[in-house]
Amino acid sequence: MSDVFSPDIDRFLKTGGLFLAGLAVLVIASVTYYATPKYTRVGYEPVQPIAFSHALHAGRLGMDCTYCHQHVASSPHANIPHARTCMNCHGEPYGNIQSGSAALAPLRDAWASGNPVPWIQIHRLPDYAYFHHAVHVRRGVGCVTCHGKVNEMEVVRHEEPLSMAWCLGCHRDPAPHLRPAGEVTNLDWEPDGESASFARSLIEDAGINPPKSCSGCHR
Ligand code: HEC
Ligand code: HEC
Ligand code: HEC
Ligand code: HEC
Ligand code: HEC
Repeated sequence: MSDVFSPDIDRFLKTGGLFLAGLAVLVIASVTYYATPKYTRVGYEPVQPIAFSHALHAGRLGMDCTYCHQHVASSPHANIPHARTCMNCHGEPYGNIQSGSAALAPLRDAWASGNPVPWIQIHRLPDYAYFHHAVHVRRGVGCVTCHGKVNEMEVVRHEEPLSMAWCLGCHRDPAPHLRPAGEVTNLDWEPDGESASFARSLIEDAGINPPKSCSGCHR
C-alpha cells in the first residue's frame, strides 16, 4: 500500500478521509433517491394548452367525472376526453357556450384538424409497474383517494406519490378506503358510522384481496 499512496495521502485516509468519502456517498445516494420523480412529482401541475378548470366543470357545474373520463370503470387505463366531448357544449353547431372564446382556440384547432388537444400528462407509472384503473374503480376506491379533490382544482395537481409504498399501504388494509360503488365519483363523500361494517362485508362477500406479492404488480 505504501507504494501506491504517498505518506500524506496515507495519513489523510487513516484520519477521516474514509469517513468523508463515506459521507459523500451517502449524500449523493440521498440526493439521487429523493430527487427521483416519485418525490418530485407530488405537486406537479403543468400549464395545459387550454386553461380547462375542473373546479368549474366538475365542481360548480356539477358534471360527473365519467361524462369526460368515460373509460374509468371499464378499461385498464383512464382516458382524457376527445375534443368532441368538449364540443358538445363549446362547439358552434352544438351547445354554443363561449364558442368564440380565445381560450378555446386550441380546442377549435383540434376539432378542425382531427388531432387531439396536446394535453400534458400528469400521472404516469413506470412501464414495469402494472396497474389496472377499472379494477380499483369497480371495487369502490374513490377518485379522491388517488387523485385528491380534483373538483376543487383550477389546474390538476399530482396529489399522491403513486409510489410502491403508497400502493402497498392500501393493499395491506383496503377497508378504510372502500366506499359504495355509487359514491366513487362523489369527491365530497365521507365515511359515516356504517362504513366500517359495510367495507368489512364487501371485502368478505366479494373476496377482495389486493395483490401484495411482487408478481401482482410487476408482471
Ligand atoms: C368536462 C370534462 C371533464 C370532467 C367532467 C372531468 N374531467 Fe378530468 N380531465 C379533463 C381534461 C380535458 C383533462 C386533461 C387536462 C387537465 O389535466 O386539466 C383532465 C385531466 C384529469 C386528470 C389528470 C390526468 C393526467 O394527465 O394524469 C385527473 C386525475 C382527472 N382529470 C380526474 C377527474 C375527476 C376525478 C373528475 C370528477 C370529479 C373529472 N376529472 C372530471 C376533463 C374532465
Ligand atoms: C356540459 C357542458 C360543457 C362541457 C361538456 C364542457 N364545458 Fe367548458 N364550459 C361550460 C360552461 C357552462 C362554461 C362557463 C361559460 C361562461 O363562463 O360563460 C365553460 C367554460 C369553459 C372555459 C372558459 C372559457 C372562457 O373563455 O372563459 C374553458 C377554457 C372550457 N370551458 C374548456 C372546456 C374543455 C376543454 C372541455 C372538454 C374537456 C369543456 N370545456 C367541456 C360547459 C361545458
Ligand atoms: C387506486 C388509485 C386510483 C383510483 C381510485 C383512480 N385513479 Fe386515476 N389514475 C391512477 C394512476 C396510478 C394513474 C396513472 C396510470 C398509469 O400510468 O398507467 C391514473 C391515471 C388517471 C388519468 C390519466 C389518464 C391518461 O391517459 O393520462 C385520469 C384521467 C384518471 N386517472 C382519472 C380518474 C378518475 C376520474 C377516477 C375516479 C372514477 C380515478 N382516476 C380513480 C390511480 C387511480
Ligand atoms: C386505496 C386503495 C388502493 C390503492 C391506493 C391501490 N390499490 Fe391496487 N387494488 C385495490 C383494491 C381494493 C383492489 C381489488 C382487489 C380485488 O378485487 O381482490 C386492487 C387490485 C390491484 C391489482 C389487481 C388487478 C387485477 O387485474 O386483478 C393490481 C395489479 C393493483 N391493484 C395495483 C396497484 C398499484 C400499482 C397501485 C399504486 C399505483 C395500487 N394498486 C394502489 C386497492 C388499492
Ligand atoms: C401493489 C403493487 C406493487 C407490489 C405488490 C410490488 N410493487 Fe414494486 N413497484 C410498484 C410501483 C407502482 C413501482 C413504481 C414506483 C414509483 O414509480 O415510484 C414499483 C417500483 C419497484 C422497483 C423500482 C425501485 C423503486 O423503489 O422505485 C423495484 C426494484 C420494485 N418495485 C420491486 C418490487 C419487489 C421485489 C416486490 C415484491 C417484494 C414489489 N416490487 C412489489 C408496485 C408494486
